[in-house]
Amino acid sequence: MPPDEQGPVEALATRFSGRIVEWQASHGRSELPWQNTRDPYRVWLSEVMLQQTQVSTVLGYFDRFLARFPGVAELAAATEDEVLGLWSGLGYYSRARNMHRCAQEVVARFGGAFPPSAAQLQALPGIGRSTAAAIAAFCFGERVAILDGNVKRVLTRVLAFDGDLSSAAEEKRLWDEATTLLPPAGDKAAISRYTQGQMDLGATLCLPRKPACMLCPVNDLCAALRAGQVEKYPVKTRKLRRTADSLWMLLAHDAQGRVWLQKRPSSGIWAGLHCLPVFESQDALLESLDARDRGAVHDEAAFLHVLTHKDLHLHPVTLTCDGGQRLSDAGGWFEPAEWRGLGLPAPVRKLLEA
Ligand code: ADE
Repeated sequence: MPPDEQGPVEALATRFSGRIVEWQASHGRSELPWQNTRDPYRVWLSEVMLQQTQVSTVLGYFDRFLARFPGVAELAAATEDEVLGLWSGLGYYSRARNMHRCAQEVVARFGGAFPPSAAQLQALPGIGRSTAAAIAAFCFGERVAILDGNVKRVLTRVLAFDGDLSSAAEEKRLWDEATTLLPPAGDKAAISRYTQGQMDLGATLCLPRKPACMLCPVNDLCAALRAGQVEKYPVKTRKLRRTADSLWMLLAHDAQGRVWLQKRPSSGIWAGLHCLPVFESQDALLESLDARDRGAVHDEAAFLHVLTHKDLHLHPVTLTCDGGQRLSDAGGWFEPAEWRGLGLPAPVRKLLEA
């Protein structure tokens, strides 16, 4: 397109991507264990772990996963409980369940080789558009845009994009702009660096508050900075409607110091994890016990556990069962060495460790 027919985004595109690529090479991150590889298994593992978790936390988990599951076939062959156990502490466990399913599909449908395009990757469990694009760009040099939370911040600021990103139509418009900003076609090394560079910029300089604009490689191209309104972006008006719930949890020990746990159903809160028995009221908890146990319970201090969309007020109720009898049809007694290796909800682990 001749320069006089370009829109503002096209005019920006070449300069923007070139700067990001240069800056990544000199100032970006280059020693993370999932970099310097084109192995889709490693890249996929890291991208899924990094979806809601910061790099410093992911490092240890990434190493442990790779040590236990060196390739996608080993991960596919594991039990879901083992995967959830290794994931334990990372939170957002649907990621782990989808990751396990994804490994099984890659083995069953693609003979253990991740498909080499963003479009095919995005059809796999737990791989959204941005994660698919990151894997395709890093591993296969595909020229596709990413748009995770960090990159949304970078791009809405550079473009002074004031569409409301809680609207699907506006988010689609930003995806289109992100695609227009990609480095020129034909340079496979550039797309990988560009992808990493945007992530690095969002994570290190273009921060939600007090961004380090002085150090930013595209500060002279940034429309939000020019307008003195960097922190106004990204614009998101719809507030998450937060809800609150109260749950009662039975923390039963037997005479040998084991605790009673049962596996959560495969959908809903803490799906698939091992958990203390959970009840919606104190009465429901008491009704689940026989008469002798009912008289032996103690209420412990309630505490707040904050989930993404919900405040959970948790009420632990302790019970010591001398006889070691079964408390319900589902579940069992677990020694500390056993429950430490299970996937447990974070507040349950905290209670058990206390
Ligand atoms: N966050 C998401 N993907 C990342 C990556 N490849 N490196 C660092 N942080 C990330």
